[in-house]
Amino acid sequence: MTALLETRELGRAFGALQAVTDVTLAVEPGELRAIIGPNGAGKTTLFHLISGLLPPSAGRVVFRGEDVTALGAPARCRRGLSRTFQITSIFPELSVLENVRIAVQLKAGGNFRLLGGRAQLDASERRARESLAFLGLEGRADELASTLPHGDQRLLEIAMAVAQEPELLLLDEPTQGLSPEDTTATVGVIRQIAKARHLTILLVEHDMDVVFDLADRITVLHFGRVIAEGAPSDIRANAEVQQAYLGTVA
Ligand SMILES: Nc1ncnc2c1ncn2[C@@H]1O[C@H](COP(=O)(O)OP(=O)(O)O)[C@@H](O)[C@H]1O
Ligand SMILES: [Mg+2]
Repeated sequence: MTALLETRELGRAFGALQAVTDVTLAVEPGELRAIIGPNGAGKTTLFHLISGLLPPSAGRVVFRGEDVTALGAPARCRRGLSRTFQITSIFPELSVLENVRIAVQLKAGGNFRLLGGRAQLDASERRARESLAFLGLEGRADELASTLPHGDQRLLEIAMAVAQEPELLLLDEPTQGLSPEDTTATVGVIRQIAKARHLTILLVEHDMDVVFDLADRITVLHFGRVIAEGAPSDIRANAEVQQAYLGTVA
């Protein structure tokens, strides 16, 4: 099978600090891949490199067979790559619906104003409402995003990414700061998205129960390098991983 996403010897330095080193990955279409590793392992930086938020200092990113290394985040988004952020990033002073509509329009990019008009506004609103319904947030469409409880704000972020109808969705710690109940709900949502939308998902997650529950394959980062990759059962059994990270799981 041809990989949907490949990284080839990807690296990123911040001054003297090598945050990501020599990361080579191949993610198959439809796969749910978890990226795990201790704090500071380089997971978020790797997501920035894949989504185009940061340029790499070494290596390539290939998406759907195309080398996208030189493209910025909007161009990668238009090609089918969407993401959420570790720190919730919504527009707090806008309504829930407006947040999602902006995400749709951001993907349309420069085309939006040119083609413009009522029809396009209606289409983006329809897509935004569809996505909100998918995440169970349709009843909150007209509320200010800032007034949502934290768990719903995180779901809103996922709704924004899903509304962009990506092929590859990057989720950076979607359950961070959530209650156990909200975590369970979010896991259900992620599973549902993966299935219903045939999405390929890259998930950074610190909760190992969530990771072992959801992932088809797991990649372990440690000091910016891949130290292991495999099925959840392989990763659970891997001594180096246990030492570096899991410790208590053994
Ligand atoms: N913009 C930045 N400037 C300098 N150092 C950074 C920057 N972003 C991340 N780092 C450093 O890179 C390393 C990896 O960080 P990060 O990718 O956020 O790790 P993780 O998401 O796995 O916790 C850390 O040592 C962090 O302090
Ligand atoms: Mg991080």
